[in-house]
Amino acid sequence: MKSNLPEPLPPEFAEPLARSADRRGSFGRRIVWYREVPSTNDVAAALAEQEADEGCVVAANAQSAGRGRHGRRWISPAGAGLYVSAVLRPQGHAAPLVTIAAGVAIADGVQQATGLQPGLKWPNDLYVAGRKVAGVLAEASAHGDSIQYVILGFGINVLPAAYPAEIAGLTTSLEEELGRQVDRGLLLAECLSSLALRYGELQAGRLEGVVDAWRRRAAPTRGRRVRWEGNGTVLEGVADTIDETGALLVRAQGGSVRITSGVLTWL
Ligand code: BTN
Repeated sequence: MKSNLPEPLPPEFAEPLARSADRRGSFGRRIVWYREVPSTNDVAAALAEQEADEGCVVAANAQSAGRGRHGRRWISPAGAGLYVSAVLRPQGHAAPLVTIAAGVAIADGVQQATGLQPGLKWPNDLYVAGRKVAGVLAEASAHGDSIQYVILGFGINVLPAAYPAEIAGLTTSLEEELGRQVDRGLLLAECLSSLALRYGELQAGRLEGVVDAWRRRAAPTRGRRVRWEGNGTVLEGVADTIDETGALLVRAQGGSVRITSGVLTWL
C-alpha cells in the first residue's frame, strides 16, 4: 500500500544535500520527501498556505498526477527523474522574472552536476541535443495585485523511462545523453544551489545578470522560426531574444511582437 506521509530523505539525497548546505541558503533548509504524491506542486502549495518558509522544498520519487505547462501531463515514474517544488515568496520587482531565473538556474544546476550544457526554449524548457530534458512549472497565488507565494516546480528526466516511447523523438534524458549513471542527489543539490544564487540575484534587484544568462543559453535558437498561440491568436515569425522583463520578442510581418504567455512551438 502506498503511503502519502513524508519519509526520511534517502541517503542518495541526504549526503550531497548536506555537503551543499552552505551554498543553498534557504533552499532546501526544509526538504519534505515522499515516495509518491499526485503532484509536488500541490503539496508545496498546501505547505505555503500553512505559512511554510521561503525555500521549503517538496520532492518525490514518483508523481501520479504530475503536470506540465498548458495543462499537459508530466509523466513521473518512480526513480526515473527529479520531481521537485520549492516555495518562493518573491518581492514585487522579482516576480515577473521568476520563471526566467528558474530556467537559467536549473540549466546551471544540470551543467554543474553532469557537464551537459542545456539550452533554453522560452520561457524555461531545457533542451539537450535538440530534445527536451527538463521543464519548469511556476504557479503563483495572489491576493489582488500582491503575490502571496509562487510554487516553483521542476521536473528533470534522468532515465529514459521518464517519458513514453512515443515522444522519444522530442524528449531525452540525462543518462541517455551521457551514456552513464547520474547521481540524483548531486543533481538536486546543484539545482537548489543554482536556484539560491539566481533567485538571490533577482531579489537583490540584479536582474540583468539573470536576463543575460538566459540569453546566452538561448543564443543558438535566436533566428529560429516559431509559431505562437495565445489569446485566441496564432502568429508565425522569427524568435529574437527576451527583453528586460522576460518577454520574448518575435519578428512577425507587422513588426516586433512581445510574447508574455501562450504556447511557443519551434517550426
Ligand atoms: C513543463 O515543461 O511543462 C513543466 C513541467 C514541470 C514538471 C514538474 S515535476 C515537479 C512539479 N510537480 C508537477 O506536477 N509539475 C512540476
